[in-house]
Amino acid sequence: MRVSGLLHLAAVLSLAVAVEAVKREDFKTCEQSAFCLRHRRFAEEIAQAPGWPSGGGGSGSGSGLSARSASPYSVVDGSVRLEQHTLVALVSHKDDQVPLRFEVSFLASGTVRVRAQEEEPLAPRFDDTQRYTLRDEGRALPYALLEDLRLTSTTAGGAAVHTVNYTTTTGDGAGALSVRITERPWSLTLLRNDKPAIQLNSRGFFRFEHLRSKPDGDVPDGEWEETFRTWTDSKPRGPESFGLDVSFAGCQHVYGIPEHASPLSLKSTRGGAKDAYDQPYRLYNLDVFEYEIDNPMALYGSVPLMLAHSAEATTGVLWLNAAETWVDVAHEKTSTIGSLFRREEPAVVTHWISEAGVMDVFLFPGPGVPDVYKQYAELVEQTPLPRDFALGHHQSRWNYLDEADVLSINDRMHEHDIPYDVVWLDIEYTDGKRYFTWDAAKFPAPAAMQDRLARDGHQLVVVIDPHIKRDPEYRVWAEANDRGFFVKTADGAGNFQGWCWPGDSAWIDYFNPDAARWLGEQYGLAKFNGSTASLFVWNDMNEPSVFNGPEISMDKDLQHHGGWEHRAVHNLYGMLYHQATANGLRARQSPALRPFVLSRAYFAGSQRYGAIWTGDNAADWAHLRASVPMILSNNVAGMHFAGADVGGFFGNPDAKLLTRWYQLGVWYPFFRAHAHIDTKRREPWLMGEPYLTHIRDAIRERYRLLPYWYTLFREASLTGMPLVRPMWVEFPGEKSLFAEDKTFMVGPAIMVAPVTDPDPMLPVEVVFPLQENWYDMKTHEMYNGPLTRQISAGLGDMLVFARGGSIIPTRERRRRSATLMRRDPFTLYVYVGRTGTASGKLYVDDGESYDYEGGAFIERELSFAKARLVSRPSARTASPPSAAQAAFSKRMAAVRIERVVVVGLRNPLTRATIRENGDERTVELGYRGAKVDAECVIRDPAVRIGNDWEIVLS
Ligand code: GLC
Repeated sequence: MRVSGLLHLAAVLSLAVAVEAVKREDFKTCEQSAFCLRHRRFAEEIAQAPGWPSGGGGSGSGSGLSARSASPYSVVDGSVRLEQHTLVALVSHKDDQVPLRFEVSFLASGTVRVRAQEEEPLAPRFDDTQRYTLRDEGRALPYALLEDLRLTSTTAGGAAVHTVNYTTTTGDGAGALSVRITERPWSLTLLRNDKPAIQLNSRGFFRFEHLRSKPDGDVPDGEWEETFRTWTDSKPRGPESFGLDVSFAGCQHVYGIPEHASPLSLKSTRGGAKDAYDQPYRLYNLDVFEYEIDNPMALYGSVPLMLAHSAEATTGVLWLNAAETWVDVAHEKTSTIGSLFRREEPAVVTHWISEAGVMDVFLFPGPGVPDVYKQYAELVEQTPLPRDFALGHHQSRWNYLDEADVLSINDRMHEHDIPYDVVWLDIEYTDGKRYFTWDAAKFPAPAAMQDRLARDGHQLVVVIDPHIKRDPEYRVWAEANDRGFFVKTADGAGNFQGWCWPGDSAWIDYFNPDAARWLGEQYGLAKFNGSTASLFVWNDMNEPSVFNGPEISMDKDLQHHGGWEHRAVHNLYGMLYHQATANGLRARQSPALRPFVLSRAYFAGSQRYGAIWTGDNAADWAHLRASVPMILSNNVAGMHFAGADVGGFFGNPDAKLLTRWYQLGVWYPFFRAHAHIDTKRREPWLMGEPYLTHIRDAIRERYRLLPYWYTLFREASLTGMPLVRPMWVEFPGEKSLFAEDKTFMVGPAIMVAPVTDPDPMLPVEVVFPLQENWYDMKTHEMYNGPLTRQISAGLGDMLVFARGGSIIPTRERRRRSATLMRRDPFTLYVYVGRTGTASGKLYVDDGESYDYEGGAFIERELSFAKARLVSRPSARTASPPSAAQAAFSKRMAAVRIERVVVVGLRNPLTRATIRENGDERTVELGYRGAKVDAECVIRDPAVRIGNDWEIVLS
């Protein structure tokens, strides 16, 4: 949270913080950010020029591909050539002599990378974002080789055009890819089957501020110094920003670029569309106090990944830059003159503007959604498998006061039969906000407290923030200070100092690898007094939040390791802190166990280090609704393990809102209840009945489905596919669902239509994609179209539907926590699809170690057809089994399927024949429900999860 001046002190002293609206004036608009303004103005001028390729002012000459913009940038004659795996071209502005070197390279998966900077820069530009974000620091990308590329050059309409054709290993192989570069003005188009998919500079917004020496005398406003409110940015390097338009031909929807509290399908930010924002989407990690809903303002995290989707294809762009970035979005129509008639082709034109660094853009050609994720995950890696407990129910608040308070939470959860895994401690547990210490009066025996929780199957998470209290007596500060590990002032001479929770503080510079390692070492079990192996970590305020800094963060001219300005690295800071913590936790035991770290700030790549959440939301219905598109946008951008504070951080939810929030929160990948220090206590049992029962039921549903969630994580860790998915991800051809962001999918098999209105009489509009039949997960009632239905939901009801054709694994024994379910038997639900078939997966491992990397897992493909349910090992299961796998199977030998429920069998059958390991036995079937939606139960088939088996119904 953010508070300024006296208000900040009030918060530190735990006095009441008045709930008020976001202070917009604390944060820059594009007009107040000099570089953004320059690029936006330039784009406006270009768009006014005759011949601009869109409708409106332009003459609309043909498909955006051959259209001419008024761009002053062209390819230098004769400069285009192939070098190894790279196409090189020099581009220059008509009025200056500073050629830019463009490098276009091609990955075997089809991805195209476009990099640009001065051919001979006056000083190096920051180019390490790739080091921190890409797999293997970007060194081992699978580029296509020269022999796979063919360059042809022709002249079209008086301008030279260069085309590289290449083939790809991703997708159905049907599409031939090519990249076409037009010389005058320059533009680059990625084509699939000769149809433009992604275009760069087709609108002519490209503008590159080359590095220059400071001129004598007067300098243009905002280029060599810039003031915002009371802060002056000294800008010693002068202007170095760049901007580029990226257009998605044939698309009407783009998604991603979290974090914003805005709808899933990104809105126009220019072009005067109804409902458009007047500001670009901003990517600049910030601590925004009481953020507004439906606003493109920057928030805590930034992932510069955008996906574009049409019924024909999905494509994507990663704008690999960690400096302040703004993105304008416009939904346009381009006229295409066909042989007989004129056609209006939709396109989304985006304009990306970054303040510093090199230009480094990845274009993902898809064509399917899974292809785009494969292409993205190949670059930045997938989400790793979390600890099993991390998928459970987390109970947090600012603050549980002392040991007795923590233990009473534990006791109450048990007393009320509410499963939970983790209890959290916020900043007040420390000795004066000195992280890695405990307030000895409140927590005299923290290790014993953790042991007590652990005996009951629970973990503890404590917050460790990045600001270090300036106190020579504080070991952490003194050590970091002695070693020179703090971020430096603009002149590099001293440590930067600012305010945060502890008052005067300094910040560790994680760009110094020694500092990052040292921070990790602080988590050593011997080093962090009072910590045990069941303590995990929450990294907050890592945007970084500096209460008395510009926009509540660091000054851009501060110095980091290697002499880099904060300006160039801002959006990486939070991720590097998150990484250092995760590495530290991983290293505290040998053999290593998987860490769990929650972070507030993030960047592309943060998914590797743990979970994130949407920060300080509020206890109102609008925030409840907004959490869905926010978490979906994060998932679209590869930040899978995401959640929102259940109940809302600021303010006091009434029992109804809290109940509905739990009913939605159990479908967030990261499920944590949390609240501000000034709010009333709101643990479920304080709500009374019937709310307590409804909340407990929702949480139990989460625990029942943990095997499904864990299997989804396994898939995400291999494919990069989102866990919670916008409807279009699962139904890519269903145009009416492209902007849907109320209803969403959890994996491929479960559809959730949250109830986000206080009036229970108000029915919820639920969309039922027509391709499938759907089953209410509680009543098993079947829905078979039409597309939308109005369904009322009593306060105890969640509107959750299983997709026909799915098999969903569950565990139905009631336990106190996820870790206590590890040896529990499974129940399989077979939801019969329209064609009488169903399929699904089940993945199981020990839930904590890295042994699965050596094969210690059970992974089954489950399929149902012609009344026969079969379990086979997945293609990823080694045969014959590896030693690790055999050992794990042995350990799980007693774990069985205790029930199979087949929902939607059309003709009633009476017997099940079970075959396993050469044995055969027959059992009678039980039935529940009406005939058509019949629910048929095979009680205790007792087949083992690690074995091959089949159950034939007759
Ligand atoms: C920030 C966090 C919030 C936390 C508070 C105190 O506002 O976003 O979750 O409770 O700081 O640490």
